[in-house]
Amino acid sequence: MSDVRKKLVVGNWKMNGSLSANAQLLQGLVENVPVDAVDVAVCPPFVYLGQAASALVGCRIALGAQNLAAFAGGAYTGEVSASMLRDLGCEWVVVGHSERRAYFGESDALVVEKLRLALAAGLRPIVCVGETLDQREVGLAEQVVGQQVDAVTCGLSAAEADSVVLAYEPVWAIGTGRTATPEQANQMHVFIRERLSAAGWSGEGVRVLYGGSVTADNASLLFDRPDIDGALVGGASLVAGNFLAICAAAARVSSGI
Ligand code: PGA
Repeated sequence: MSDVRKKLVVGNWKMNGSLSANAQLLQGLVENVPVDAVDVAVCPPFVYLGQAASALVGCRIALGAQNLAAFAGGAYTGEVSASMLRDLGCEWVVVGHSERRAYFGESDALVVEKLRLALAAGLRPIVCVGETLDQREVGLAEQVVGQQVDAVTCGLSAAEADSVVLAYEPVWAIGTGRTATPEQANQMHVFIRERLSAAGWSGEGVRVLYGGSVTADNASLLFDRPDIDGALVGGASLVAGNFLAICAAAARVSSGI
């Protein structure tokens, strides 16, 4: 396994938090983040990025955003550009989360536009792919995920692959408490790698995270699977102890303990 496949655990806070709740959460994370065996990042809402950036100074937890504008800058009321995110210290940005695709009409084409802007600004995108329950039940899971992956590889150059992380998030597992089994998840991760390789990317070199009701209880079994390189964590990232336990599980698996 290449160094690029070091386990990565990312907290997606979604539209949650307040100045005081964040302060408590960030303090808990900063004081207890596990050693270097795992990469860790948190993605607070835009308005709290400055607060998180200050709290994370000198800490090995990286900062990320949950979204970015599909424009570089200018008269786009209410939007936040890639360069602004860099300015605030973001290293990562989540792109194409299923909630953005479902509630804000984000298409594959828009996702690719955002990926290009993110990369141009020096951000590392975490691009989300995943099928709905209906799609899985009629046997379309691989077709849907394959098309989402193809949009990424068609829209970017293979040279950009090093900076991109994929997150497989079956929509039916997000916020539902219903996790994909480690076997189901690993199978899709293998499929994603094959699809990346077929497009001329180094499928074996790209990190593929799993997301969807990851908890301290199921994280180890997921991380044990060879093709699961970490997790994108929603609900369980809002409590320091829960998120840290997931990070610790990743660190344990990485260290072979
Ligand atoms: P969840 O969310 O962990 O609450 O299921 C994951 C995500 O949407 O990234």
